[in-house]
Amino acid sequence: MAEPHAIYLKDYQPPRYQVEHTELRFDLAPEATRVQATLQITRAPGTASDAALVLAGDHLTLEHVAIDGQPLEPGEFEVTDRALTIHTVPERFRLDTEVVLAPASNTALEGLYQSNGMFCTQCEPEGFRRITFYPDRPDVMATFTTTVIGDQAATPILLANGNPVERGELPDGRHFVTWNDPHPKPAYLFALVAGNLEKIEDQFTTQGGREVTLQIWVEQQNLDKTAFAMTALKHSMRWDEERFGREYDLDLFMIVAVDDFNMGAMENKGLNIFNSSAVLANPDTTVDAMFQRIEGIVAHEYFHNWSGNRVTCRDWFQLALKEGFTVFRDQLFSSDMNSAPVKRIEDVALLRTAQFAEDSGPTAHPVRPDHFIEISNFYTLTVYEKGAEVVRMLCNLLGWETFRQGSDLYFERFDGQAVRVEDFVDCMAEVLNLDLTQFMRWYSQAGTPEISVDSAYDAERRTFMLTLSQHTPATPGQEEKAPLQIPVEMGLLDEQGVDMALVIDGQSLGSSTVLNLDESTKQFVFEDVPHAPVPSLLRGFSAPVKLKQTLSREQLSFLMRHDSDGFNRWDAGQQLALKELETLMAAYRRGDEMVLDEFFVETVRSLVETPASDKAVLAEMLTLPTEAFIAEQQTTVDIDAIHQARRFAIACLGDTLFEAFETLYTQEQSDAAYAPDFDQIAQRSLKNVALAYLCASGRDDAFAYARQQFEANANMTDVRAALTQLAHAGDTSIGDPAIRAFGERWAHDPLVMDQWFATQVSRPHEDALERVRFLMAHPAFSIKNPNRVRALIGTFVNQNRVNFHRRDGQGYRLLADVVIELNRLNPEIAARMVLPLTRFKRLDGTRRALMLEQLERIKAEPLSRNVYEVVDKALTSA
Ligand code: BES
Ligand code: ZN
Repeated sequence: MAEPHAIYLKDYQPPRYQVEHTELRFDLAPEATRVQATLQITRAPGTASDAALVLAGDHLTLEHVAIDGQPLEPGEFEVTDRALTIHTVPERFRLDTEVVLAPASNTALEGLYQSNGMFCTQCEPEGFRRITFYPDRPDVMATFTTTVIGDQAATPILLANGNPVERGELPDGRHFVTWNDPHPKPAYLFALVAGNLEKIEDQFTTQGGREVTLQIWVEQQNLDKTAFAMTALKHSMRWDEERFGREYDLDLFMIVAVDDFNMGAMENKGLNIFNSSAVLANPDTTVDAMFQRIEGIVAHEYFHNWSGNRVTCRDWFQLALKEGFTVFRDQLFSSDMNSAPVKRIEDVALLRTAQFAEDSGPTAHPVRPDHFIEISNFYTLTVYEKGAEVVRMLCNLLGWETFRQGSDLYFERFDGQAVRVEDFVDCMAEVLNLDLTQFMRWYSQAGTPEISVDSAYDAERRTFMLTLSQHTPATPGQEEKAPLQIPVEMGLLDEQGVDMALVIDGQSLGSSTVLNLDESTKQFVFEDVPHAPVPSLLRGFSAPVKLKQTLSREQLSFLMRHDSDGFNRWDAGQQLALKELETLMAAYRRGDEMVLDEFFVETVRSLVETPASDKAVLAEMLTLPTEAFIAEQQTTVDIDAIHQARRFAIACLGDTLFEAFETLYTQEQSDAAYAPDFDQIAQRSLKNVALAYLCASGRDDAFAYARQQFEANANMTDVRAALTQLAHAGDTSIGDPAIRAFGERWAHDPLVMDQWFATQVSRPHEDALERVRFLMAHPAFSIKNPNRVRALIGTFVNQNRVNFHRRDGQGYRLLADVVIELNRLNPEIAARMVLPLTRFKRLDGTRRALMLEQLERIKAEPLSRNVYEVVDKALTSA
């Protein structure tokens, strides 16, 4: 096989031909769907008149091609397995093509495929070329008319983008619907759905008075899981009007739930397609965290209607333009709708574990990559989460009002266009007359900056000198790093824990300020400082950096109790716990007995025993750093020590503070009817954190609580929390009956069975890996369904680190087996699943060698471009 080659941002060329209007006609059939396309094409100004027309096409059988009604002769065009080239074309013409494709055997879930018999599409980023020959790039925008023809019985519902304009019956039990989308769009936003679907419907009146019909289409058995998403949609529409001044622009907005879907959801114009796991919810089947995720995803896809659809990307290197901005928007929305501090804590936790890990591994890349082999591999935490942090920094830099002006300017100026990251940042620079040249480095430089801190208090001069230095470690292909513009929000706490008045150069800066660290090293001298302060740095996590600061336990505990910044209070607690865990790990490594420090236990006790004003934050404060986060802090990752130390700490806290946790657990019981609202979620999470500590003690009465909660069957959040505790008990006879009962009860519901899989394979027990292999043969599992793969394999790999990293290498072998099979079926998912095998850099030599061995094994296969790119990067960096 030819080695796949990379595409470079610097090689961008504008399209030579534009499509003004696209007319599609689908004659649906599982094994042979016929797609007729009629494209109104014009040559772009400045293009040579002999420039060939090259249309992308993938897995297509071409049956017919004509220009202005005139079929082409064999010598006039050329078809390969990737493109249709027509050597000479007029300046303006009509192109007709007809192709045949087989949705039923499309396991990649890109282009047109079938899920549970339903026809559906996924075109971002380059799936449209699996549907018809087309200039499949985001800077070609056309209006679309789509006629869908299908069997009345199998596909009574026929949907596409825009508004339905015509429908009718055809011979042989077939029927059709024609849809028209008046908004020019790139092909990646095209969508079609056909199946036996039912809907719930609602109405929304926009600020400007447009009456919009809202529909959620699902299979009949899922109708009782749609109400929550509908409410979330209406909240999103209102919120985008109020916060960003953005109104919806069609008379119809549809969401469809499909079971087989590579991602969470997709923002196709007027017809969002959702993974059923990202939209279906009800109290009996869905946990609180999933309700919140669904609300966020519904909002995210809706928000794309402006940040992505009306203003789209010039090319796929600009992906963060729409994704980073839209993630930032959905973060703001979720934070307005729920607990703002908890939302921030969760987002930062994700960034600091998963994104930082990406940044320090072989697949590190800038927020705007400058080359790729397969663009599908770049829907990453760096583009999404770091991309959102960069927009957040801009927002903080400008202040909300000005940021909003910049956003208005951006939407107004570029409406209907395909643009670049620069266009967005320029609008922000323009409204405040700022120079953001250096800031742009956040988009082009990969890696996580590290900030070191030096400080000195001068009692005589009453000054406090803070020296901040930045350093970004080299990443593959980027040895040299330039200094970034890093906003460091901070304050200084006095002895009472109150923010001091900040003064620099005689200028009063209030009690919290933002230091602009835009050089390698910068000194800040605070004046009029009566005594040595405790600095609180990077408040609210004001920049996506690693802060290297050595604070004592006493200082951390002080910040944890007094910092005026909620995020930093939580973070100080995490740092304190981390210190404690490191001590335990050192003892474990020496073979000494692990002993939990008294000071730490008492700190936790005071948290548990002090009535909390914010239960949601308290639940976060009581949660120890995850194994993944601890690993991210280490130079050499000691898988076993991390696991043992963390387990020990939780067990020991549960045992020592049993009565306190028991009181908390009892206090936070509630008889209220379930609602996934902010107060209830906070209360349940606190209660279930308490339950986890109680059960970690291993005491019988703790498991009695769990059993009782499991059997009370009040809602899935509580059932699942109890099941997890029972299942994770060292003695498997405690968990096995509950696992069995749960599996029988929910055998009919795939989304609940995913939770059942996940609970079992996250068990720390030694036979977890054998359990994974066993469950892969379970009738509810299918390797072709991405949700099943994520629930069973993904959970094992990511949430069961001791067993995935087994010293005999069986965990790595298992993952490689799965990747090799997925490589043939679904390359996009295969390339995601293989990532944990590329995170070998900081592991011990034995495990590193075992991982490399499996990567080599994968490399020996005939690989998709997706998997090839990832594996090749990993092996090259080794
Ligand atoms: N545009 C993406 C979906 C997508 C990405 C489709 C890559 C095909 C390939 C969508 O807007 C998105 O970002 N979805 C996220 C969820 C979101 C809340 C971050 C997803 O699917 O995970
Ligand atoms: Zn998105």
